[in-house]
Amino acid sequence: LGARVIAVAVGYCFGLFQTGYIYGEKHGVDIRTQGSGNAGTTNTLRVLGWKAGLITFLGDLFKAIFAVLLIRFIFIGKYPDAVKILELYAGFGAVLGHNFPFYLKFKGGKGIACTSGMILAVCPLAAPICLILFIGSIAITRYVSLGSILVVTSYLIQVLIFGHMGYLHVDTAYLPEFYIVSACFTAMALWRHKANIKRLLTGTENKFGMKKNQEE
Ligand code: G3P
Repeated sequence: LGARVIAVAVGYCFGLFQTGYIYGEKHGVDIRTQGSGNAGTTNTLRVLGWKAGLITFLGDLFKAIFAVLLIRFIFIGKYPDAVKILELYAGFGAVLGHNFPFYLKFKGGKGIACTSGMILAVCPLAAPICLILFIGSIAITRYVSLGSILVVTSYLIQVLIFGHMGYLHVDTAYLPEFYIVSACFTAMALWRHKANIKRLLTGTENKFGMKKNQEE
């Protein structure tokens, strides 16, 4: 249990690095008061442009990757069989830190770039389909939130399939836990997108390239 707590805590610390918020502050804008009010890639791109969006995406992606790699480095010698599940906890910690940064009154982002970083670092086998669905759905519908939802749901489905086929390189003793923590990523992302989902269902979601008002 101790190692799991350490993994989540280390991940949370990495997740606190709010790329979009910091970039916005440097340019005199609190990103959380503009556009959708979300401190993530989509809203930074929406409000501050392509360069800001790209920097935010890379910063938020890599903070999750670094958290996973650090936990791998710390625990691979001590718990080689459990290191994959610990990496997953580190990724989840990064999402928590990103979504709920204590120093910003717990108002952060929705965790998709962080989750993508975790997928690349922990379960790269799932990345191609996630990427194809993300780009394909946005190209067709221009709803970024739909792309995000497809990433997290297809990730979970792939984990279940690959785990069943023995392709995940997770010790069988930890496989059920790996499924559950993976489901937590999906549940967290869907919950953070609840306002987007409502708008998607009513046909009022903001399309890529348009400005929009705050959510709350
Ligand atoms: O990852 C966030 C994206 O799916 C939606 O962002 O700002 O349109 O709510 P936003």
